[in-house]
Amino acid sequence: MNMMLRRLSRAAAAGLVAAAALTAAAHSAEAADTLGSAAAGQGRYFGTAVAAGHLGEADYTATLDREFGSVTPENEMKWDATEPSRGTFTFTSADRIVDHAQSRGMDVRGHTLVWHSQLPSWVGTLGASDLRTAMKDHISGLMGHYKGEIHSWDVVNEAFQDGGSGARRSSPFQDKLGDGFIEEAFRAARAADPAAKLCYNDYNTDGVNAKSTAVYNMVKDFTSRGVPIDCVGFQSHFNSNSPVPSDYRQNLQRFADLGVDVQITELDIEGSGSAQAADYTKVVQACLAVERCTGMTVWGVTDKYSWRSGGTPLLFDGNYAKKPAYDAVLSALGGSGGPGEPGGPGEGTATCTATYTRTADWNGGYNGEVTVTAGSEPIGSWTATVTLPARQSVSALWNGTAAFNGNVMTVRPSWNGALAAGTSTTFGFTVTKNGSDAAPAVGACTAS
Ligand code: XIL
Repeated sequence: MNMMLRRLSRAAAAGLVAAAALTAAAHSAEAADTLGSAAAGQGRYFGTAVAAGHLGEADYTATLDREFGSVTPENEMKWDATEPSRGTFTFTSADRIVDHAQSRGMDVRGHTLVWHSQLPSWVGTLGASDLRTAMKDHISGLMGHYKGEIHSWDVVNEAFQDGGSGARRSSPFQDKLGDGFIEEAFRAARAADPAAKLCYNDYNTDGVNAKSTAVYNMVKDFTSRGVPIDCVGFQSHFNSNSPVPSDYRQNLQRFADLGVDVQITELDIEGSGSAQAADYTKVVQACLAVERCTGMTVWGVTDKYSWRSGGTPLLFDGNYAKKPAYDAVLSALGGSGGPGEPGGPGEGTATCTATYTRTADWNGGYNGEVTVTAGSEPIGSWTATVTLPARQSVSALWNGTAAFNGNVMTVRPSWNGALAAGTSTTFGFTVTKNGSDAAPAVGACTAS
């Protein structure tokens, strides 16, 4: 019941915040002088880990809101934070981050559902059958609360052992349920939120090595047997002991070739100055060279709050000044050229088209998806309208921000405004039928 109320109130709030989100998105899309807008110009998202406890700090929030198009709660969605005792869910801190992100038109990555770490002790005391139930309940409780609001979920995190063996890591899940727990978690996740991309996430899997090959073999097995998996996350925590691998791109590409997206999920690189900047450039270039590398997330806004603060691994220093690594990332993303340049978006010739499909259907509702495609010119931003049949209402929207006027929903992009000529993006929404199964009408797409 609480979940239902929350989802309805989220949808109502979306209309109120849309204007603010639009202003931010349109501004950054024109300038392409921020990480988020430059990445969007390449059809990617650029995100950061966020801690709810810092959102009250003006400089932190100003930097976050200006630069990033996606956020990952750093700790607030982990099991110990969300289900500290069995069946009792607490979402206060995670909700703060999700609400903040949505009010600024940023997308949210979910991190993480099933992990051996930051796990409350009660989970380890359960016998196999109880543990299986508890794992599925955790997945459906957490994903259900944010249904339709998370672009990608790290369903299982760090299930493989470090080192050369390619074996699975010991955990309550592995030890009591065996290898199959990963598959069971992904199946439960698909059922809980069919619109979310489901990722397997790990570290020391960034280059081609025994551990990444073990993960690769699991993903290959999943895709061949139809186990639902959409993406693989590469944490990418680098330092002198674990440098950016020379075969990073090649490794991302071999996963992409299995038919899944790849994402850089927790990027940080210890160091400073031009050496750190050069390493960041390598990472961004590797992602941009792989078509299915859909986005990058750095593991924090500022060095001073990094989990590895001694290594100053992020893009902004402790005073929120841009480091050389920041300039390198922006430049590798093609920043400050792009939109507004001759022949680019903003020239007045940009066009787009919008097409609609129903992607899921059940008794009381359905999911709709609109594909927005740029015409023969690149576009900096777009607007699409969806007119709902009488009685139907929208309970969730993703990859866009909505403003409602009666039964007309006007959707603008969140991170996905800028499109190269001929390329597409999608936004999706969940509709409550209220007895009407009619299809919505998608109006003209306007590009700018
Ligand atoms: C880290 C957080 O950054 C810390 O604040 C926390 O104390 C421990 O976890 N791999 C992951 C992340 O998947 O969840 C971890 O985050 C870093 C390593």
